[in-house]
Amino acid sequence: MSNPTSARPPAMVLVGVGGYLPERIVTNDDLSKVMDTSDEWIASRTGIRERRVAAEGQTSLHLAVEAGREALKATNDGRTDVDALVLATMTPDRLCPATAPDVAAELGLGHIPAFDVSAVCSWFVYAAATAQGLIAAGTAQRVLIIGTEVMSSFLNPEDRNTAVIFGDGAGAVVVRAGEPDEPGAFGPFDLGADGGGSDLITVNGFGGRTPPEPTRENTDDDYLFMAGREVYRQAIPAMAESSRVALAARGWELGDLDAVIGHQANVRILDAVCRELGIDTSISFVNLDKVGNTSGASIPLAMTHAHQQGFTTAGQRVLLTAFGAGLTWGSGTLIWPELPEMPA
Ligand code: ACO
Repeated sequence: MSNPTSARPPAMVLVGVGGYLPERIVTNDDLSKVMDTSDEWIASRTGIRERRVAAEGQTSLHLAVEAGREALKATNDGRTDVDALVLATMTPDRLCPATAPDVAAELGLGHIPAFDVSAVCSWFVYAAATAQGLIAAGTAQRVLIIGTEVMSSFLNPEDRNTAVIFGDGAGAVVVRAGEPDEPGAFGPFDLGADGGGSDLITVNGFGGRTPPEPTRENTDDDYLFMAGREVYRQAIPAMAESSRVALAARGWELGDLDAVIGHQANVRILDAVCRELGIDTSISFVNLDKVGNTSGASIPLAMTHAHQQGFTTAGQRVLLTAFGAGLTWGSGTLIWPELPEMPA
C-alpha cells in the first residue's frame, strides 16, 4: 500500500506572462502643469518619468481581461485553459462582488473558482502563494493570476504626494502543477504583515467605517493617502529581510541570483534593497520610469516587460520581492522558464 504522507506535493511552475497598459500617457511635465511639482523632483526622488492612465469608463475589469488574454495565448505549452483564477486589486470595479468572477466570465473560462486577494502592493506574492497552495493541495492544476489596477480612480488629482507616483495597468501570469527543479518552478514564499502600520497607506472611504450616506459628499477619505517617507523607511529593511528568508527557504545564496524583480514603487527603494543585500543594482529590473507604481499589477507587469526586453532568460535564478499597504510584504524565487517571444 502506498504511503500518502511520502508523496511530494506538486510545485508551481510559470508557463506564461502577459500585460496591458492603457493608451494614455501622462508625463511628469504634464503633471507639473496642474500641480506644484516638476519632472526633476519626480524623476530624482522616484525614477518615474511617465505613467499610463485609463480612459473614461475603463476599469480594472477591462485591464485584467486584456492582460489575462495575452498571458493565456502566450503559454510555453500552448494551452489556454486554467481551472482557477486568483485576481488581486486594490481598485476593484465594485466593493461587492469581487472582480475575478467577472473577469473569468469575460475570458470565457467557464465556472472555475475565481476570487480576489487584497494585499495591495504586495499582492502578487500573496496571490502567487495562494495559487501555489491551490496547486499543492490538488485543488487546481493550472491557475491564472492577474493583478489589475486603475489607481487613477482613487487618486486625488491635487495631491502631489500620490498623484505623481501611481499609474494604471494590469499584469498576468499562468502557472501549472509541476516539479520543484524544472524551469519555471517557484520556491516557498515568505509573507508578512504588520497592522501596526495600517494607517500609513489608506483609502478610508467605501468600507464599514464609513457606511454610505445618501447625501455624503466626497472627502479626503475617499482618496488614496500615503505617508510616503515612513513607508519608504520601513520598506527597505522589510524587503531585504523577506528576500533573505525566501532565498534561504530555496537553499539559494545571494550570489546565486541572476535577476531581481521588485515591486516598482521607487527606484531608490529598489537600489537600497540591493545595497542592503550586497547585490549589484544592475540585476534589478526597472520599468517604473515608464509605468509608475501600478500597485498590485506591478510585479506581473514587470515580469512581462523583463521577458519582452530580454532582461530575464531561461535558466536564470530570479527573486521577487514586494512591500505595500497593510503593511504587507513578501518575497519568492523562481527559475525563469523558456517563454514564447512576445512583441514589446
Ligand atoms: N513634487 C515636488 N515636491 C514634493 C512632492 C512632489 N510631487 N511631493 C513631496 N514634495 C516635497 C515635500 O513637501 C517635502 O518638502 P519639504 O522638505 O519642504 O517638507 C519634500 O518634497 C520631501 O518630501 P518627502 O515626502 O520626504 O519625499 P521623499 O523623498 O520621501 O519621496 C516618496 C516621497 C517618493 C513618496 C517616497 O517617500 C516613497 O517612495 N515612499 C514609499 C512608497 C512605497 O513604497 N509605497 C508602498 C507601495 S504603495 C501601496 O501599497 C499602495
